[in-house]
Amino acid sequence: MIIARSATELRDALKGKNGSIGFVPTMGALHIGHRSLIEAARGNNDTVVVSIFVNPTQFLPGEDLSKYPRREEADFKICELSGVDILFYPDVQAMYGEDEVRITAPDVRGYILEGVSRPGHFDGVLTVVMKLLNLVRPTRAYFGKKDAQQLALIAQMVENLFMDVEIVPMETVREKDGLALSSRNVYLSGEERTEALKLSAALKCSTNMVMQGTLEVTEIQKAMMDILAPLEVEYTAIVNRRFESLSRVLIGDTIVLVAARVGSTRLIDNVWM
Ligand code: PAF
Repeated sequence: MIIARSATELRDALKGKNGSIGFVPTMGALHIGHRSLIEAARGNNDTVVVSIFVNPTQFLPGEDLSKYPRREEADFKICELSGVDILFYPDVQAMYGEDEVRITAPDVRGYILEGVSRPGHFDGVLTVVMKLLNLVRPTRAYFGKKDAQQLALIAQMVENLFMDVEIVPMETVREKDGLALSSRNVYLSGEERTEALKLSAALKCSTNMVMQGTLEVTEIQKAMMDILAPLEVEYTAIVNRRFESLSRVLIGDTIVLVAARVGSTRLIDNVWM
């Protein structure tokens, strides 16, 4: 595995690589969810590139940028053992200069749900993803469905800016008890982890209700809130794949989302139906 720490090193490493390139952008603290993205990239491409970069521009002031888990040694091992060909591991200076051009998220879809709680977050995400895609020039880039709004906005950026890359959405990986894997789960105490299960339980309830024929969004959200109630819920939402609100679930074109704080940790989760 080649480790590239700058744009030049990355470009050198990519020279002479023929065939398709699968790219998995990450912020490190790799878990089984990331591994499923890497495995998919490995299975479908000639070359696999992973980036690990804790992108400062997607964190708002007061968020967890300084304490975001960093596990260089373990992450390098996971990449190596997963058959990654090139690991891009830049520092902030390698990625950003001063007074730069930025990508801005769309006015509506970038400023609902996550965008309300984290205004400007998606500008940072889209800017860094654009930089990474321009550097790696992958055939396919893999993103988890757990960050559903991020995934939708990246897919929209690729479409709107006529970028030549296939965005591959990947299923959320869960613990046996339903907790969605997230690098931020390490912040949870034992008790908080149990509380956090309310997110997946609320989503499970929404799926069960739909399977039993309840399609009214207000009814489903009420039942979800009953389960989530003790937590500080930021939102529950039921939208279509374009993140437009729905009054009734449309099977095959619906995402049910939740964001809540468990202690001081902010968690998000969703289910696609
Ligand atoms: O989902 C993430 O880990 C990040 O938002 C991403 C896509 C790597 C951009 O920093």
